[in-house]
Amino acid sequence: VRMHDFIQNLPKAELHVHLEGTLEPELSFALATRNGVKLAHDTPEALVAAYDFHDLPSFLAIYYKAMEVLVHEADFYEMTYAYLTKARSQNVLYCEMFFDPQAHTSRGVAFDTVIRGIRRAQLQAADELGIESQLVMCFLRDMSADSAMQTLLASLPYKSWIIGVGLDSDEKHNPPIKFAEVFARARTEGYKLTMHCDVNQLDTLVHIRQVLDVIGVDRIDHGINSLEDSAICAEIARRGLGLTICPVSNRFVVQNLTGDEIRRMLALGMKATVNSDDPAYFRAYLNENLAALVDDAGFTEAEIRQLLRNAFDVSWLPAPRREHYL
Ligand code: ADE
Ligand code: ZN
Repeated sequence: VRMHDFIQNLPKAELHVHLEGTLEPELSFALATRNGVKLAHDTPEALVAAYDFHDLPSFLAIYYKAMEVLVHEADFYEMTYAYLTKARSQNVLYCEMFFDPQAHTSRGVAFDTVIRGIRRAQLQAADELGIESQLVMCFLRDMSADSAMQTLLASLPYKSWIIGVGLDSDEKHNPPIKFAEVFARARTEGYKLTMHCDVNQLDTLVHIRQVLDVIGVDRIDHGINSLEDSAICAEIARRGLGLTICPVSNRFVVQNLTGDEIRRMLALGMKATVNSDDPAYFRAYLNENLAALVDDAGFTEAEIRQLLRNAFDVSWLPAPRREHYL
């Protein structure tokens, strides 16, 4: 209990959360009814009971199906405001949130509808709840580089609302270099760059090398397998690159909380952070991820403090705001 109070009370930042992964079953049902969309299950409880993930593809199939209830600006607003309310209740003061525009534009929902709803929630939450947030636009790596480039161009009128770009979805046979041109253009447009290097993927070390040497990322999402190569670890530490680790997500996707890996990263001077990834699906927000490390992997107060300091440290806040939190 004492450690759980300690976790609750610490000011926190979250850097790896997919907004569409915060869609709670109850809101899914409300939106399905409102929008006349048929869900595969009859109750929120039945929907949760069908959450059967054992790897990345089995998770993604359920995640993309469920987001079909998001149609109108108000839907994106409500989902985002609900997440920010929940995060603030856990004393999260700052977050960088991913969104997947292609998962919506490919269904006929306009980019403008998606981003306006999210933006309205961010402004209102900053004002009314005192939680600061920035938006990171992800490209779906199992779609074409051409589609990613179209999405990048569609985002340019909203550039001041987006701090960076990322790459998510199914990594198999979709290496970072597939998107080299898109990310080079994103950089020239002033976006920060990150990419998912999911745990235990095919060619994982090749992909991590590409994000370091070809893409030139400012951060790595997951990146657990970098520990298999001491030169890669040294380079990540030397560049001060943040790694956004998602313990409970890892427990679902690779059946391992990856506590040992997080510890090894800290010992090597790598800036590991803890995050929730898709909290509505993995049933764990940031506090529950930290509690899992304490309860199931024996993390100490000092280790938890270091992980949270790292998150503010590698955040994409402007320096004065970053220092305010540090
Ligand atoms: N999209 C949403 N969550 C994801 C994850 N954990 N990995 C890859 N793509 C995702
Ligand atoms: Zn993710």
